[in-house]
Amino acid sequence: MFQYPRRFAQIALSFLPFFLAFLRDRHRFIVFGRSRLVTEAQHKERAQKLRDTLVDLGPTFIKIGQVLSTRPDIVPLVYAQELITLQDTVPPGPFEEIQAIVAADVGVDAYDEFDPDAIAGGSLAQVHVARYEGQRVAVKVRRPNVVDVIEVDLRVVRRLLPVVIAIAPRRHHFSLRNLADDFERVIREELDFDREGRMMEEIGANFADVDDVKIPSLYSEASSERILTMEFVESTKITDVGELRTEGFDPVEIAHHIADTYFKMGIVDGVFHGDPHPGNLGIDKRGRIVFYDFGMTGRFTPEMQEAIVSLYLAAAARDTERMIDVLIDLGVLDRNVDRGSMNQVLDLAIKNLEGKGISDWRALMLEVNSILHEFPFRIPPDVMLLIRVGTVSEGVLRQLDPEFDILSAAQTFLVAHGYRKRGAETWFEGVRDDATMSARSTVRIPAKLERVLDTVQRGELEVEGLQLQQPLIAIARALAYALITASWVIGSAILTNTNPTFGLIGWLIALIMTVMFLIALHNTRTRE
Ligand SMILES: Nc1ncnc2c1ncn2[C@@H]1O[C@H](COP(=O)(O)OP(=O)(O)O)[C@@H](O)[C@H]1O
Ligand SMILES: [Mg+2]
Repeated sequence: MFQYPRRFAQIALSFLPFFLAFLRDRHRFIVFGRSRLVTEAQHKERAQKLRDTLVDLGPTFIKIGQVLSTRPDIVPLVYAQELITLQDTVPPGPFEEIQAIVAADVGVDAYDEFDPDAIAGGSLAQVHVARYEGQRVAVKVRRPNVVDVIEVDLRVVRRLLPVVIAIAPRRHHFSLRNLADDFERVIREELDFDREGRMMEEIGANFADVDDVKIPSLYSEASSERILTMEFVESTKITDVGELRTEGFDPVEIAHHIADTYFKMGIVDGVFHGDPHPGNLGIDKRGRIVFYDFGMTGRFTPEMQEAIVSLYLAAAARDTERMIDVLIDLGVLDRNVDRGSMNQVLDLAIKNLEGKGISDWRALMLEVNSILHEFPFRIPPDVMLLIRVGTVSEGVLRQLDPEFDILSAAQTFLVAHGYRKRGAETWFEGVRDDATMSARSTVRIPAKLERVLDTVQRGELEVEGLQLQQPLIAIARALAYALITASWVIGSAILTNTNPTFGLIGWLIALIMTVMFLIALHNTRTRE
């Protein structure tokens, strides 16, 4: 259909400036000369632009950004931080279309009332208030055509992936391919409201006896693959600290409560809400934490739950051998990993935090990732979601309690639930020191991590220079030219219709690029 080439051009053109900047930084571009040093501020600016581009491109790319933000092994920290906050607010679509979906799946007469004005709208769905069987309900309706748009986008992404891989450093190829598969799974799951409804019910059942947590209940007979009819639960936004105080709640207490709820989901139940951004959490009048949005949920097998607790304990005890075992169990590291250097690397990582232990999940995962990224490894989707929970919730927790210490919160939880009995005394000796240091180290860690990442990145550039054979560089260049040429050709074709002058300039540039592509291609041939 016509849709695919147009979308391809739009996507390729949107990313073109980033590709060019990337190639230029990496010294891979013949024409524009030497590599350059990019300052932190420039990176931050670029990260913000990338973020805006992803939002403009819609749901598929917002999801890509969210997934990338959990991968500091591939994405530098500045970018990861910018992408974590990716969220979308999209104006509601025409009510007739929503009505048509409701009519087809649930029936027009199913609701006593249905408010045509949406109370919330993301790129995948919008939420309406209605009355069902006399009860006030929230109806989440998947946007019309969103599946078609995403299918086309996924085709484009699959087509562009080899180009990205060709340009990316070689040791990221494995991660990038996995990432693409995992990403498709995440977005397909989020589109499937049947699944979302089931997860909401399962997690709701796990909290049925917990008085201070509220999961809206589902009206499954009025729900479908694209409609969720839920109990309407009113709440105050979790980050509205002023309002929470006025209502008489203690933000510090709420922070602990949220952390404990997540520990229960992850460690005790094995099914967890994977998207704790501020829009999805609230506090109701009775002080209960309300969870919305079960589109991103993870599940751990009992073995994985055990592995995660062990990883935490091994890290706190600075036992790198044990950490390697656990990372293998988690499927993060390959069984054949070079244990010697891995040990060294993990040891270095721990020392790098000045032996103060690991103060939180995010610091732990970032550190482990930044070191691991010279090895082929993958992060299974559920572990990836856990990282997301860690990074996203940390932001929320720190807003509620700037001093929030995840380490001691985890420690308290693990003790209360009997996960740490044997050898507890010696373990706590170390932890107590850590806990007293944690206020300070929390402040220092981000700066330090950035330094580690920087060093690794600088090292990486050197390694690259050694590793990449000349012909490979040439092929990468040729591919880059091919991509750029293609984008210019398509872009010019579009422009010619709307603006003939710019169109002509576009065609000229395309012509020059084509010549450069042919020269680059010729170079790869003669070198072989
Ligand atoms: N059961 C509910 N009761 C009250 N408000 C709800 C309910 N479900 C969703 N909402 C509101 O709608 C917003 C969007 O719903 P959500 O499920 O998070 O959709 P999205 O996937 O688009 O983020 C939520 O942030 C919340 O404010
Ligand atoms: Mg949401």
